[in-house]
Parts: sequence; C-alpha cells; structure tokens
Amino acid sequence: MAESIPTVLVVDFGAQYAQLIARRVRECHVFSEIVPCDITAAEVVRRAPAALILSGGPASVYAEGAPKMDTGIYDLGIPILGLCYGMQLMAIDLGGAVPKTDVGEYGFAQLTVTDESCALFDGLAVDQQVWMSHRDSVGTAPVGFTVAATTPTTPVAAMADPARRLYATQFHPEVAHTPAGLDMLKHFLYDVAGLAPTWTMVNIIDEAVDEIRAKVGDAKVICGLSGGVDSSVVAALLHRAIGDQLTCVFVDHGLLRLDEGADVVRVFRDQFHVDLIHVNAEDRFLGLLDGVTDPEAKRHIIGEEFWKVFFEEATRLEGVRFLAQGTLYPDIIESGGRSSKATAKIKSHHNLIPFPAGVHFELVEPLRNLFKDEVRAVGSELGLPDEIVHRQPFPGPGLAVRIIGAVSREKLDILQRADAIVREEICRWDTDREVWQYFAVLPDIRSVGVMGDERTYARPIIIRAVASADAMTADWARLPHELLALMSNRIINEVDGVNRVAYDITSKPPGTIEWE
Ligand code: XMP
Repeated sequence: MAESIPTVLVVDFGAQYAQLIARRVRECHVFSEIVPCDITAAEVVRRAPAALILSGGPASVYAEGAPKMDTGIYDLGIPILGLCYGMQLMAIDLGGAVPKTDVGEYGFAQLTVTDESCALFDGLAVDQQVWMSHRDSVGTAPVGFTVAATTPTTPVAAMADPARRLYATQFHPEVAHTPAGLDMLKHFLYDVAGLAPTWTMVNIIDEAVDEIRAKVGDAKVICGLSGGVDSSVVAALLHRAIGDQLTCVFVDHGLLRLDEGADVVRVFRDQFHVDLIHVNAEDRFLGLLDGVTDPEAKRHIIGEEFWKVFFEEATRLEGVRFLAQGTLYPDIIESGGRSSKATAKIKSHHNLIPFPAGVHFELVEPLRNLFKDEVRAVGSELGLPDEIVHRQPFPGPGLAVRIIGAVSREKLDILQRADAIVREEICRWDTDREVWQYFAVLPDIRSVGVMGDERTYARPIIIRAVASADAMTADWARLPHELLALMSNRIINEVDGVNRVAYDITSKPPGTIEWE
C-alpha cells in the first residue's frame, strides 16, 4: 500500500516523537510511515517518498553515539522538514553551527516570524506561541538558508532554504501546545511538497480491500472475533473484501460484560451477515477457573484456553489458508524498535499467535499500517456501531480479573449487572467520552449492612473510573457526587447480593487501572 500512494517518511531519531508526527501528517490526509534514522539514501530513492520529516529525539547532537543520517539524502531533491533534533542535525550536516549551551528552553515560547515569505508561516500571525523542548540550538544557519523565525532565547527558531525545499523548526509543530502547528505542517505538505489531502477513510478502505483481494485470491480466511475494536474492524473489512470466503470464530468465554456476547452475534451475523461460529464456552472456562485465585494464573488459563478453543474450530473447517489478525501500526513499530535490525523482531511479533503443533495459517493483517484512531474511523465508515468502535479498553481475560479471588457464576452475575449500571450512568453523563475507562469490581469480602428492618451480610461493589491518555498513567476521575449517589442507589436497589458501594480514589501509579 505504502509504495503506491504519495508517502511522507518520518525519519525516527527517538521513538515517541516520530509516532506523533506520523499521526499528525495522516490527520492532514497524507499517508506517512516511520523509518529508522539509519535508512540509506539508496533506500529512500527506492521508496520514492514525496517528502521527509526528520523527527526530534532525546539525544544532544554532541552526545556520544548521537544518531546521524546518511547525508546523501539531502541531495535527492526531496523536500525535507527538520524538527528540533532534526533541525540541529540538518544545520550541522549542511555546514551551519550548533553551539553547545548550558541553558535549555522547555515549554511555551513566544515566536516571532522574521521572514514572512517563508511558506511554513504563510498567512499565520507574526507573533505566536510555540512549544519548545531543547538544550542545544542552531547558532548559524547553513549557507543558502534564511532565518525564518526567532524566540527571545533561540535566535534561529526556524530556517528555510526554499530553493532546495529544506525547512526546519526548533520548536515542535506536531504538539497541541503549538496552536498553529498543524497549519505549518499543512503548509509544508501541501505548498512545499505539493501533496494533496487524498489519504481519506474511503481511500484507506479501498486500498485495504484491493490488497486483501490480491493477497487472498479465492482462498478461505478465518478470523477470531472478541468483540473488541481491532478484531471487529478486521472482520468488517475482510467481509467487505471477500464476503463469504471469510469465517469468523467468536470464542465466548462467558466473561464478557452484560449482553456483550449477544451484541457481537447481532452485529456480525444479523447486520453484516458474516459467516459466524459462536462458540459458547462459558462452562469450559468457568470449570477451569474453579477455585483459582491467583490473577496471573487466571490470565494464563484464559489465554491458553482461548486459543485452544479457537484452533479446535479453525482446524475443523476445510480448506482455510489464511488467518486474519488485528495487528496495528504501533504494534509493528514497537516490536521493531527503530534500528534497521527491526525485521527480525517484527517476525517474532507475528509469532504471538500460539499455533499448535502441526497447524499453520498464513497471516492477513489489514490494519498493520493504521493507528488506533484510524482503525476506529475505518470501523465507523464500514458501518460498525458506536458501541464497538468507541468501546473502552477491556482486558482479554474479561471480568475474571475484576472478580477478586475465585470466579463463580454467581459472582459473575452480580458483577455483570452492577457493571452495566456503572457503564450506563457514566456513559449518559460523559457525553464527550472524557473518562478513559470505567467499570465495576467485585472484591472478595462481605460487610454488614441494614436494608429495611433486616441486617444484611453481603458483597460490596467498587466503582473504578479513570482519566488517562494511554493507560500508562491514570488519575481517578472526579465524578460528580450526584452521579456517584445515583450509581450507588441503583446498584443496591437493582443488584441482589450487594449492600455497599465504594469509589476507588487511587491513581496509577501507585495503583493499576485494573484490580488484578
Ligand atoms: P493496568 O491494570 O495494568 O491496565 O493499569 C492498563 C490497561 O490494560 C488493560 N489490561 C489488560 N488488557 N489483557 C488485556 O488485553 C490483560 O490481561 C489486561 N490487564 C489490564 C486495562 O484494562 C487497562 O486499560
């Protein structure tokens, strides 16, 4: 797919910066991919990108082993935008100077555009806020460049050589803290590189459908459905591409949220008319989990059994050649790292599916070029309902890790009903989807209460709701007291066996989002 459409290559000098840049470029409807900084000029020529963006990075250009780039790349006539570290490297590589400094510049800075003819700043305010995060900076721009913008502490905050189509900024246009940053990127992509905003959801789907058809031919494909976003979008996309050649296997371990299993069947069998095998394996999973209290042991049992059930079904079908998998672009980048030795590691990522001895399928991974937000957009475009496309993260082992201690059908029933109330009420209140994840937890204790004239000795429910950007860190959500009161009342009135509700006010760290 990448080679056939105009592509911007983001040269990666430090992982998390590059991903954000690639995502921003795609928000401008231009396809972009991340490449390691040791890419050679010959490889760049082979891939024929429409433009290059050199990312920022954590290193100082003077640090030992600081990443460098093949300088032959500057001579290829391809437009290049250098950002932060990428700008400093461009300056040094082309004969400018980056003096060592002791004073860095971190956070907001006031930018003044000094060359209003610079394409990056076309039509933008002369004075504006930008986001800086650097120690060293360019002292003297290379010959041929003009200084396009300054800040009080950074004399060369942007530089440009329009004749060679080389541009660079010391600040980060890709972050939200640079309010006009996206406009600057658009100027680079559309005006400097002459790109058109053609990377749209419709194009992404058309490309993916063509690619699936070319790869699969008239062979049969099997796909594991979990009800999660990725596997659902894979299934919908494959169905669009190859219709009845696709069979989906939904391994229902019974540990999903209330009605979730039925929803998967309704959407895929009744709405999309996918050939769906619904394996109701609740008894099997609950039997294996009986008496198991250790969280990792639960995870292990569920993970292993899931694939066992899946392959029992998969190998029963005749003539299946391909297995579809919801690998996303960040999975590929993360398992590959940023060195060109990446290929070996990407292979090990493919082996994550534990094929049983003697079983082998070729893989189809139609989402492997997409970020999560693009996967959601593709899902919506394909007609998947919002409940699936905007489903909050949900652990593979399901409610088994939200029932503390041993899992039983009785506990599962209590938790499913309490959790449904929590989701219903928070969803009704959180219309902008600001809370990252919210759910109920059933701890392994009972407490005394009084209901009517009777003393009770029943279970508590804990409500967990967190704000987060990526689940690495999280803060407990400041839900209004009225909402907490409403959920507490409803849970106690509507769920038998519960006499107390608590709200978890622990952030991550020190807590985790889940309780197990
Ligand atoms: P923690 O509890 O580690 O969770 O703060 C971070 C995110 O990961 C999800 N999570 C899991 N997802 N299998 C999964 O697929 C698991 O075993 C698992 N455990 C936690 C959790 O819901 C949160 O979004």
